[in-house]
Amino acid sequence: MRILSGIQPTGRFHWGNYFGAIRQYIDLQNGQETAFYFIANLHALTTVRDRECLTQNTLDAALDLLALGLDPDRATLFVQSAVPEVSELSWILMTTTPMGILERCHAYKDKKSKGLTADAGLFTYPVLMAADILLYDSELVPVGEDQIQHVEVCRDIAGSFNHSFGEVFVLPKAYVVKDTAKVPGLDGGKMSKSYGNAVEVFENPKAQRKKVMSIVTDSRPMEEPKNPEGDHLFELYSLFASPEQTQMLAETYRRGGFGYGGVKKELADLAESYFAEARAKRDELAAQPEKVRAILAEGAARARKKAAEVLQRAQQACGLTGNS
Ligand code: ADP
Ligand code: TRP
Repeated sequence: MRILSGIQPTGRFHWGNYFGAIRQYIDLQNGQETAFYFIANLHALTTVRDRECLTQNTLDAALDLLALGLDPDRATLFVQSAVPEVSELSWILMTTTPMGILERCHAYKDKKSKGLTADAGLFTYPVLMAADILLYDSELVPVGEDQIQHVEVCRDIAGSFNHSFGEVFVLPKAYVVKDTAKVPGLDGGKMSKSYGNAVEVFENPKAQRKKVMSIVTDSRPMEEPKNPEGDHLFELYSLFASPEQTQMLAETYRRGGFGYGGVKKELADLAESYFAEARAKRDELAAQPEKVRAILAEGAARARKKAAEVLQRAQQACGLTGNS
């Protein structure tokens, strides 16, 4: 089974990205499947308009993924733009994609409903994503909940192409781990870099602790029993704690007579030790950027091999080969 996913290099990864997406990628590389993971810099170009920033973010994303356990011997890691076949497939798919499907996609719809103008890149973003998936005959696409719609769109686009030209593409399925589908941020809303409520995985430990201590909590008296369910501090704690620790904290909540400050301190400690090994590995890798570039180049070569095969299949099916 072919597994594939992409992640945009739009900023440093936060706990939401890790527990909602990256951790699943890493777990999946250890199965029988062949896993392809890429850094979606072409997609990031729809929002990042700074050359240095995009270049640095792309390298940082690779370092973060490798430090967090992505193993280049088990999974193929590459940068999206290093496989130019994806842009050609994207155009081919665009020709059989109904406008209506794209008009319903949330990123575009949200922007439009706010009265903002969108670029064609944002509008056709789901087509490029479909090309990413279809180019490698991907069967399973691990994603965060917010990307399920895009995988469904990919299935529609593939179906529409297959309907016109024959069975060229494999229809993929989205894969979401439900219990970490939504990691809350410091304010209790969904953690997102755009909401200023995120804690970065590799943030400096002192700054990270300060953020954790600033998690918004209610002002009910300490003695009052509290419900752990739906409490975002409790949810964050349970991401890092053992089941026994989580169980104990749930009991403490129900009993009452505790302070949120203590829970936050414990959470900061747990988070620090949870990522300590990855942090050390990241520092080690950051000192050898040429090693990281070699991993990405090797990944891109492997990905291009498969990409060339599938692109040719699509070109042949629609009559783009044979005249040149
Ligand atoms: P952001 O909202 O910070 O811009 P992205 O949209 O770049 O994050 O998300 C990248 C991946 O991480 C996606 O697969 C997304 O579903 C996942 N993800 C982001 N934030 C969260 C969150 N708070 N909880 C769970 N998954 C998340
Ligand atoms: N759109 C995805 C996100 O923002 C990133 C992405 C691009 C992707 N292409 C993909 C994810 C293909 C899965 C498969 O998170």
